[in-house]
Amino acid sequence: MCGIVAYLGHKQAYPILINGLKRLEYRGYDSAGVALMQENGISLYKCRGKVSELEDYCSDKNTTSTMGIAHTRWATHGEPNDQNAHPHLSEDGKLALIHNGIVENYLVLKQELISRGYKFKSNTDTEVLVHLIQDIYKSEQVTELAEAVRLALLNVVGTYAIAILSADNPDELIVAKKGSPLLIGIGKDDYFVASDGAPIVEYTKRVVYLEDEEVAVLNLNKKLEIKNINSEAKKRAYVQKLELNLEQLEKGGFEHYMLKEIFEQPKAISDSMRGRVNTKKDVVSLGGIIEYEEKMLNAKRFIIAACGTSWHAGLCGEYLFENLVRVPVEVEYASEFRYRNPIINEDDVLIAISQSGETADTIAAVELAKSKGATVIGICNVVGSTLSRLTHAGSYTHAGPEIGVASTKAFTAQVTVLALMALCLARKKGKLSLSKYHQIINDLENIPEKITEILKLNDSIKEIAKYCADKRNAIYLGRGINYPVALEGALKLKEISYIHAEGYPAAEMKHGPIALVDEEMPVIVIATEQETYEKVVSNIQEVIARKGKIISIVSEGDTQVKKMSDFCIEIPRTEELLTPLVASVPLQLLAYHVALLRGCDVDKPRNLAKSVSVE
Ligand code: AGP
Ligand code: GLU
Repeated sequence: MCGIVAYLGHKQAYPILINGLKRLEYRGYDSAGVALMQENGISLYKCRGKVSELEDYCSDKNTTSTMGIAHTRWATHGEPNDQNAHPHLSEDGKLALIHNGIVENYLVLKQELISRGYKFKSNTDTEVLVHLIQDIYKSEQVTELAEAVRLALLNVVGTYAIAILSADNPDELIVAKKGSPLLIGIGKDDYFVASDGAPIVEYTKRVVYLEDEEVAVLNLNKKLEIKNINSEAKKRAYVQKLELNLEQLEKGGFEHYMLKEIFEQPKAISDSMRGRVNTKKDVVSLGGIIEYEEKMLNAKRFIIAACGTSWHAGLCGEYLFENLVRVPVEVEYASEFRYRNPIINEDDVLIAISQSGETADTIAAVELAKSKGATVIGICNVVGSTLSRLTHAGSYTHAGPEIGVASTKAFTAQVTVLALMALCLARKKGKLSLSKYHQIINDLENIPEKITEILKLNDSIKEIAKYCADKRNAIYLGRGINYPVALEGALKLKEISYIHAEGYPAAEMKHGPIALVDEEMPVIVIATEQETYEKVVSNIQEVIARKGKIISIVSEGDTQVKKMSDFCIEIPRTEELLTPLVASVPLQLLAYHVALLRGCDVDKPRNLAKSVSVE
């Protein structure tokens, strides 16, 4: 997700801001911008592209200032372009604001502000914030900018980390946060603000982490003032010492991006549901596909095209759609689909799944389906990517940038969006009772918390990895919707530890693979509570009879499979159709620790690229 940097003090702000943005580049972004407080008001420079391009753009501009805000954008609403880059200015040019997060109710706020005569320059959600603050600030009863910010944020649903400056009050910087990170660096006679410690640590190690729904006023002539959104003053700001070094900070304190992204899954899944599940009414709505909902409701067949991990998410989608929507689904490797002269009808809907939105084979599958008159829907993690611009409609996964080559949070976010789509269509087609609909929504909303519980097993999974680390092969087994989970678990292990691993439907063992089983073969079985549980137990017995070693993933409280296993990982129960969201997490951790033990480059495994944008 994006990066925020701000400075208020006596040094030149611009170099601090630009270097700060460079320290945050690892977070992934598509645009960058800076706003500087100067004699004649606020100067704003921003553009799509890299920080270095922003620097080139500013090279002949007046960047003298001791106060400013800067931003790297990871677009969620409004494609990456110059206008949608942050900072955003109020209409009178006197306020400049940067934002990290999602304003879920931005459309409602935008319509209200337009009705009051405000003109929008961008199609971001963020821009509503600066106009809303100006609207409140202009009204007589609010004289302090911090108060206008507080009142505005009371109307906001969603997540934010913001910094805002006002030409009418050039000594003050206001920051606030909820659900997105923000910390304040306390210098000798200046203030630093950033999304994490990386842009701050070289100037000061004294930091205050803002809590959710807190608003802080930074003013060189006053003591740091922090209030919560209900205007209750914080007794005292708790100053902490930044312990991490720069390299650690860039990975959020984790050793690798992959581990950071595995641990980000509770937030990524929450963000993929944000604004799409109305908890009060328990209603699922996906704004991005609304115009093509009719086409999807009338589809005679869904074709899901993808590659790699996204293809595994697509297989999960097949179980979700056929169980809930009751329409045939065909899951295709995009690379095969594009060349096999497939039969595609105008009442088909092709769903293309891609984290990067740049995978050549998936893009070609989309182009083929469009050329045959099918409706094409995208599920993608990168706003403005090629795929997102090619499809008729789609839903972003909002998982945030995925830097590790091995896909983790993107997979679970993709399955979450597929579940939301299936729920939405199934309910509208009358295929799903209200009680079942609510039950699955409720289970889906509890997934982030369940993953948080599973992440606590990290150390015990590390122990299991010691058993696998010297093996040359591994087999992953699962039935039903856990079959794609077996495939995904095998892919994770093979792509980062280079151990040969295969995933199979558990019943397939007797059709050949069981010949591979001996005491040197770890067999990882997803044996969570499901309709075919007893069948999976039989498959485990077949493996044990051939001296295979069993590593099982079971539902909490399971005793039967646990007794049969050499190693057993218990995970929280959930709706069977949502099991991939929980069962895949221990397999990600297992692959991660095995790869580490084997001295592999976890974030950049050999021979692999993060996005296969060539054939
Ligand atoms: C999965 O861990 C790999 N990184 C790879 O299989 C990946 O899923 C595949 O290349 C598809 O990428 P995409 O989702 O960006 O289209
Ligand atoms: N939602 C805002 C946008 O799309 C901010 C995204 C971010 O966190 O960078 O501009």
